[in-house]
Amino acid sequence: MVTGEATGSLGDADRQPSDAPRTVVVTGASSGVGRSIVEHLAGRFRVIAAARRIDRMEQSFGADPNVEIHGLDLEDHAAVRQFCDALLSREEAIGFVVNNAGINRPGGILEIEDQALRASIQVNALAPLTIMQAFLPDMTRRGFGRIVNVTSGAPLNCFAGFGAYSGSKALLNALTVTAAREFEGANIRINLMSPGPVRSEMAPEAPMAPEACHPTLDYLMQSDPGVPTGRFFWLGYEVPLVPALAIDWLNGRASGLEQVAVDRCRSVAQEVDDRTGEDREDHRPA
Ligand SMILES: NC(=O)c1ccc[n+]([C@@H]2O[C@H](COP(=O)([O-])OP(=O)(O)OC[C@H]3O[C@@H](n4cnc5c(N)ncnc54)[C@H](OP(=O)(O)O)[C@@H]3O)[C@@H](O)[C@H]2O)c1
Repeated sequence: MVTGEATGSLGDADRQPSDAPRTVVVTGASSGVGRSIVEHLAGRFRVIAAARRIDRMEQSFGADPNVEIHGLDLEDHAAVRQFCDALLSREEAIGFVVNNAGINRPGGILEIEDQALRASIQVNALAPLTIMQAFLPDMTRRGFGRIVNVTSGAPLNCFAGFGAYSGSKALLNALTVTAAREFEGANIRINLMSPGPVRSEMAPEAPMAPEACHPTLDYLMQSDPGVPTGRFFWLGYEVPLVPALAIDWLNGRASGLEQVAVDRCRSVAQEVDDRTGEDREDHRPA
């Protein structure tokens, strides 16, 4: 898959091998993107739907026997772990997770309150981490797992006034790619998806319907081992997380970059090497 190429080339999402575990956990199921995802998946999967507003979920899919509704506050770390442990204790394979829930606490850098930042980090990044930590060992044992962490373009754009949101989603991005690398080799695929701009409580004026993200989700949830991992997808496109630059981060070398103060940096680095006698090949960046 290359940037700008629409996803979906692996074929029909319904083409799951019969032995792939068919239960999916979806957070943030009470509105917007999450609600649309539950409705979309419920025909093909058993869906564990979680959010705080149980009444909203009852209203939307209380009558659907394929959907199991759970009240869960992702700001409560112990409750998140308990929720996962309860699912694991049933010994039912959770093959799929969609960490969709998210909050956006707007405010400029001078206004960001500690509580808003902590809540954003907890809901947008730490709760998905806890959920990954809970289910990845079981997925590894069973040899199958698909995790889709719902992110945003915000951490790449860093729009003014959304520091808490962008920062927390940047953490989610980093944790997701790291997890994907650590579980590479197993048939486990962990990716990022941005759903929007779609209409929801968070973005009531957005131009698209939440269903716009379904084809990308289907692509990432396929059982086919050809599904990529550790990547970022948006509306059928792969978005590069790392610019295609010739940078050797671990050895402090780069080519093809604009040379701003490079000579001075090089000479300082050389002085340090000369003083310490260390081999710069061994340096790890801070
Ligand atoms: N809409 C867009 O255009 C857009 C663009 C980029 C990224 N996103 C991302 O898409 C995801 C879904 O957002 P949305 O647009 O659908 O917004 P939304 O309508 O506000 O939905 C947010 C969902 O997250 C849940 N949630 C929030 N805080 C929670 C908590 N403490 N515990 C448990 N659940 C909690 C909410 O449920 P309860 O309040 O019932 O708990 C709700 O179901 C988010 O991760 C968002 O960052 C959206």
